Amino acid sequence: MSEIQSVVVVGSGTMGHGIAQVCAHAGLRVTMTDVSEAVVAKGKAQIEKSLAKLREKGRISAEDEQRTVAAISLSTDPVAASASADLIVEAVPERMDLKLDLVKKVSEAAPAHAIVATNTSSLSVTEIAGVAKDGTRVVGMHFFNPVPVMELLEIVRAMQTSEDTIASARAFAAKIGKKPIVVKDAPGFATSRLGVILGCEAIRMLEQGVASAEDIDLAMELGYRHPMGPLKLTDLVGLDVRLLILDHLHKELGEQFRPPSLLRQMVRAGRLGRKVGRGFYDYPDVNAPKK
Ligand code: CAA
Repeated sequence: MSEIQSVVVVGSGTMGHGIAQVCAHAGLRVTMTDVSEAVVAKGKAQIEKSLAKLREKGRISAEDEQRTVAAISLSTDPVAASASADLIVEAVPERMDLKLDLVKKVSEAAPAHAIVATNTSSLSVTEIAGVAKDGTRVVGMHFFNPVPVMELLEIVRAMQTSEDTIASARAFAAKIGKKPIVVKDAPGFATSRLGVILGCEAIRMLEQGVASAEDIDLAMELGYRHPMGPLKLTDLVGLDVRLLILDHLHKELGEQFRPPSLLRQMVRAGRLGRKVGRGFYDYPDVNAPKK
């Protein structure tokens, strides 16, 4: 089992910047990459905001904050960055074509001992491992939003994944302060398969006029003690992300995952949730054009 000291995170969006942050905070050297300098700089600014929040709450010290920021380098070349990595975590959009292309390239550039992890929420890790130079070193590492706060790391075992890779993934979870579960590579794994069905049904209820968005959310917050209702959570995750997951699960698992037309319409209208300032709710603090 190889010890992980240097991590490349590909993608600096909602999940990517959170993953880079927790790795750097745990003392690992991190390179975060994205398609342009402007995009990756935006991801870094999000990390700084999150660290400042944690410092203000007294969860981390000012030294910790500075050390974490200093441990993160930025790049626009994930393939070159992977040449000296122990672990590469891909957190690019939930599209199989993007993931296959990236994993093929980075696994060819990476050292033989490196692990290539995919943060996919639902896609087949076995298919992704199929294009890698060494499929035994590929694993699913599914993180949860907001990454610095959520304790779970869902480790997904592809058909090709070796026991040694699973052991390294478990040790990595412990190092970054997450609790791992290990699941078989099945569509939506143990989390998304259950999580999206609740969000999907809540959207159908809104469509059918069963109750307002606020009351549907309150029902689950007060009646079931969920920290946030399913519509607020869909805004946090991103309506586009949830639609991609549902489209995939609908194809793989059947009718119960058919995306509601309201969700598709909202995505077409650009109402993608909190990140753009508008979803099922409005977020006036987010600087983005309202659609
Ligand atoms: N960085 C650092 N700290 C953060 C943070 C961030 N990005 N976001 C929230 N926090 C901290 C807050 O500072 C606060 O800290 P204290 O407890 O010390 O006060 C704490 O988290 C709680 O935050 P808030 O008080 O602002 O609000 P809250 O109590 O409503 O909690 C929440 C916010 C943690 C998001 C909570 O509502 C929650 O757990 N919601 C459910 C989240 C969830 O289910 N995530 C999974 C989504 S599915 C997914 O991600 C996978 C996928 O495949 C798409």
